[in-house]
Formats: sequence, structure tokens, C-alpha cells
Amino acid sequence: MAADDARARALPVTAEGEDRPVPDLDSVGEIHDLVVRFYREIVFDDILAPVFDEVAEVNWAVHIPRLIRYWCRVLIGTPGYDGYILAAHRHVHGLEPFELEYFDRWYTLFVETVDAGWSGPLADTAKSHAARMAAMLARQLLDAEWHAPVAVTKR
Ligand code: HEM
Repeated sequence: MAADDARARALPVTAEGEDRPVPDLDSVGEIHDLVVRFYREIVFDDILAPVFDEVAEVNWAVHIPRLIRYWCRVLIGTPGYDGYILAAHRHVHGLEPFELEYFDRWYTLFVETVDAGWSGPLADTAKSHAARMAAMLARQLLDAEWHAPVAVTKR
């Protein structure tokens, strides 16, 4: 039956063989987990890790909670993020210029991380917001038109 098929697709089988519904990004806890998993990918990425570690010399203990506040504001409307996203990236770009391939890699890792753990309207919002912000940053910093890679968007 179609409804059962849809349900089965939304319930991946865990290592223990139990069905577990895929959550949406609808709480601080889920958003926390997304941010932590995403930056775990970044720190092992050959292109992006040097930008965070060597160029920006990011203090992860400060950066992770800030990113959680950012995504909580975007997705569930919680106040708390008080940064200036363009200024923060302009600062890093001034230390060492961003390249267009950074945006492809950043976005690909972000979408893969979201899709691996979450689905629903807020997971979709997170991905579309990320694409919009990446395009904005590419335009402002590099004066370039960036489009989300088709292979990632259509999965
Ligand atoms: C080319 C892709 C990107 C790279 C290489 C990148 C890199 C960075 C780095 C190195 C920082 C740390 C700045 C610092 O603490 O000194 C930062 C901050 C941040 N990034 Fe990105 N970023 C990218 C795209 C994005 C996108 C698309 C978003 C939003 C959807 C985003 C959201 C943020 C936020 C919220 C901060 C914190 C800004 C603040 O200090 O308040 N980044 N990013």
C-alpha cells in the first residue's frame, strides 16, 4: 500500500533492527546535533578544514554554540544569535580569499549531513536557507553567481 511504503521509507532500520522515525529539525536538541555533526565533517575536510583552522583560527568552543543559536533562529525562531554573518565571512575572506569551490563543498557537506539524519519541512528549510546564504556570500565576497550543485539538490 502506498501509505505503508511512504511510512517504511521514513523509518530507517537502526543497527539494532528497530524502526525509528526520522526527526525534523524542530528542537534545540536536533539542531545541536546537526551543527555538531556538520562541523565534525568540516574538520576532516581537505578543502574546508584549513579555512576554519588555519585561516580563521576558529575557537570551536565559541563557534559551535554560536552556530546553534544561528540555526535555532532560522528554523524555530528562537532569539539569541546576535552576529553579523556577512561581516564574519568578509573578515575571513580578507585574511585569505574564499574560492568558489568552497561553496560547493560547504553546501554538499551540509545537505549530506541534513539528509543523513533529518527530514521534513524544517530540514528542507535548512537546506534552502543554506543555498540562499551561500549564493549571497558568493555574490558579496566574490562577485560571482553561485548555484547549488544539481546532483546534491535533486537527491
Ligand atoms: C564557502 C562556504 C563557507 C565557509 C568556508 C565558511 C566559513 C566560516 C568561517 C571560517 C567562520 C568563522 C568566522 C570566525 O569565527 O572568525 C564562519 C562563521 C559563520 N558561518 Fe560560515 N562559511 C561558509 C558558508 C556559510 C553559510 C552558507 C552559512 C549560513 C547558512 C554560514 C553561517 C555562518 C555563521 C552563522 C557564522 C558565525 C558568524 C558570527 O560570527 O556570528 N556560513 N563561516
